[in-house]
Amino acid sequence: MKIAVLPGDGIGPEVTAQAVKVLRALARDGLALEMEEAPIGGAGYDAAGDPLPEATLRLAQAADAVLLGAVGGPKYDTLARPLRPEQGLLRIRKELNLFANLRPARLYPELAEASTLRPEVVSGLDLMIVRELTGDLYFGEPRGIHLNAAGEREAYNTMRYAESEIRRVAHIGFQIAMKRGKKLCSVEKANVLETSELWREVVIEVAREYPEVALSHMYVDNAAMQLVRNPKQFDVILTGNIFGDILSDEASMLTGSIGMLGSASLDAASKGMYEPIHGSAPDIAGQDKANPLATILSAAMMLRYTFSHDEAANRIEAGVSKVLAKGLRTGDIVTPGCTLLGCAAMGDAVVAAL
Ligand code: IPM
Ligand code: MG
Repeated sequence: MKIAVLPGDGIGPEVTAQAVKVLRALARDGLALEMEEAPIGGAGYDAAGDPLPEATLRLAQAADAVLLGAVGGPKYDTLARPLRPEQGLLRIRKELNLFANLRPARLYPELAEASTLRPEVVSGLDLMIVRELTGDLYFGEPRGIHLNAAGEREAYNTMRYAESEIRRVAHIGFQIAMKRGKKLCSVEKANVLETSELWREVVIEVAREYPEVALSHMYVDNAAMQLVRNPKQFDVILTGNIFGDILSDEASMLTGSIGMLGSASLDAASKGMYEPIHGSAPDIAGQDKANPLATILSAAMMLRYTFSHDEAANRIEAGVSKVLAKGLRTGDIVTPGCTLLGCAAMGDAVVAAL
């Protein structure tokens, strides 16, 4: 199992190091893992003048899976757009054709108190957001900023989906629903947007192949509201790139912290890139304060989805549960009576709990 490790920027290197530690511990127990590191994002720009250096892309293409930390930082915000760290991330998603982004939001019972929502609203929460990742406003052409006829600056992006793009991610959504609670809610804005009208039509077509899955449709504004009103009504949420970006940040807070959520981005052959859904958190970078659990749980997803190694994935997830049950917490999830750990100590605790 060849893994390309791309730590990135900010807290990326710290949290990735902990996930690597956990994978190394599994390798000592006989899992055949090979890992190689390369720079991406701001680190890629610093090393090679490109947020996705050619050598990094080649390493990722040759690997079976990619483990990524986070990209971005204030130092790079004034660069021309193509040189910014975020472009490295968007390009690698596109180059590897990682169109299906899986973002599970599951509440560990021990963290019910850490959520800003009342425990009875979130306890037992277990939902999966399936976000389309290589289309929509993020990649739609035309896009740009220009001077219009009135001589003022005008900016535009294009929300755009071909039916094949909707169909392939819808299949992934339904397949995942089949393995879970057999409920899928497709989220769009079909009352206003043609893109969403087509989205809904294609999802209804695909649903015919999955008669056991109960399909519902929801407008994105209502979905944002329902996620905090009654999040347990959801099993699988299927949605486009921009809506999924927004709703997955919202869903993460139901689980106590954005520092708890991992993700998988898959191509048609289940090759994948695995990353925490949080960003590079420049304000706490280099201070050993970050929560590495989202990245560690992303590594578990890698073992499950790309390598079909459920046993190893379960070991990691059980390790994380054990650590939380012992009351060990990083700053983002700490509550009175718990023990505060730094990033590296949290990684060690998970290794010890394996
Ligand atoms: C995410 C992030 C990225 C996105 C940014 C960093 C480009 O917010 O993975 O959710 O918008 O997809
Ligand atoms: Mg986001």
